[in-house]
Amino acid sequence: SKTSKLAYCIKGTFVHSTDSSPMEILQDHIMGVNSNGKIEFFENARKQVELAKKWRFSESDIRELGSHEFCMPGMVDTHIHASQYSFSGTALDLSLLDWLDKYTFPTERKYKEAEFAKTIYSSIVRRTLRNGTTTACYFATIYTDSSLLLAEIANNYGQRAFVGKVCMDINNCAANYKETTDESIAETERFIKEFLERKYCRVKPIITPRFAVSCSEELLQELGELAKIHGTHIQSHISEAVGEVESVKTLFPNYKHYTDVYDKSKLLTDKTVMAHGCYLSDEELAIFRERGAAISHCPNSNISLCSGHLDVRKVLKHKVKIGLGTDVAGGYCSSMLDAIRRAIDTSKVLYIQYELGQKIDCSFLHTGSSHSNQQTMPTSKTFSIQKEKYTALSYKEAFRLATLGGSQALNIDDVTGNFQIGKEFDAILVSPCVPGGPFDVFADDTFEDVVQKFLNLGDDRNIKGVYVAGQQVVPLPNA
Ligand code: GUN
Ligand code: ZN
Repeated sequence: SKTSKLAYCIKGTFVHSTDSSPMEILQDHIMGVNSNGKIEFFENARKQVELAKKWRFSESDIRELGSHEFCMPGMVDTHIHASQYSFSGTALDLSLLDWLDKYTFPTERKYKEAEFAKTIYSSIVRRTLRNGTTTACYFATIYTDSSLLLAEIANNYGQRAFVGKVCMDINNCAANYKETTDESIAETERFIKEFLERKYCRVKPIITPRFAVSCSEELLQELGELAKIHGTHIQSHISEAVGEVESVKTLFPNYKHYTDVYDKSKLLTDKTVMAHGCYLSDEELAIFRERGAAISHCPNSNISLCSGHLDVRKVLKHKVKIGLGTDVAGGYCSSMLDAIRRAIDTSKVLYIQYELGQKIDCSFLHTGSSHSNQQTMPTSKTFSIQKEKYTALSYKEAFRLATLGGSQALNIDDVTGNFQIGKEFDAILVSPCVPGGPFDVFADDTFEDVVQKFLNLGDDRNIKGVYVAGQQVVPLPNA
């Protein structure tokens, strides 16, 4: 609207996703950001004179990007454990349940100490921002006060975030890291109350049952009620690993499946994001779709803990919302660029299994009847009648998952996720050609090549600036 003043303009190349295209590259465009941090206009630069007149800006108000530089939406990490950052890059030699007992619970206990929490939480917020994560959906620990501290730190650094105080009342006696059912509920209520009193603009509380293995039926149901009363977001884990799925079957024998456990507790809403989902059935995905609940795909973690692979194609086919997560520290890398790469890798592994594996299997069916085909490798086309051809994720699709997909998964796509007019300007300014940088750009590279090189090879050296709601948060003003 005309009531907000124009703050600045950016001119150059913009790369983003829309509902109809996983990646649009818009060269020679001009974008106006208003004093509320929202995108006021976004047009071809040939309209500059007209726009300058209407919005009263001059050449000196325009920040012009270099020839290979581009602006892309900030990335959305839909699942990250801020408290596990202290041991990220280590402790990846066990599978999920043993890993939790041996490394994770003992580490999270340390967050009772505010000073310890402050150090690690400041580091992870700074690092994710520097790597272009403008929105993060965090797990903290069971400790309310240090979880509130994480919210304060994210707010101070200007990151958009959801922060959850973790709830867990069963099955973790070994590490002496748990709470009673009553404590968990009362502390979650206090967490939400004190959180909301602080009136942060872009940092919000999220109800966080750790996962069904760590939560009693009563706790799950009470948390579902609290989410309903306060209208809060919800996050947890689901169907990440085989041992976990088996535990849930044993612990909750009266439920149809894992998804049913959360669903009956009213924990599956259109503000819910569940991490992993590697072993969800079609029936379970249909319930996700019905409730509007989302999945956070955390490929680094799935591989690092040997949990399994999520079939993104299957999730997309069910029209279930999906974003990417780093899942620090089950995932060892806090950069969403890594999540993009691992998501593509995982998808290619599934392609190898489904398409090339299918070839071998099917060829056995055909060798009996005809020997004339023996010298020809059967192509997957030969068997296309049996199954639709599987295609691996393209880098463009992975880019969408990391940006627009994540914002949809967190139900904030009305505010962020791409460069639609009226959304807040959450963006990264990418400089592919930096001295001593991680890759080279050559004369005959197309702009698509440059973007693809950044996604596959780039790092924070290429990230010249990060903006959240129009405010520059990287480079940090006081760093
Ligand atoms: N399931 C329950 N807790 C956790 C956790 O901290 N990390 C992962 N990856 N899975 C979990
Ligand atoms: Zn996790």
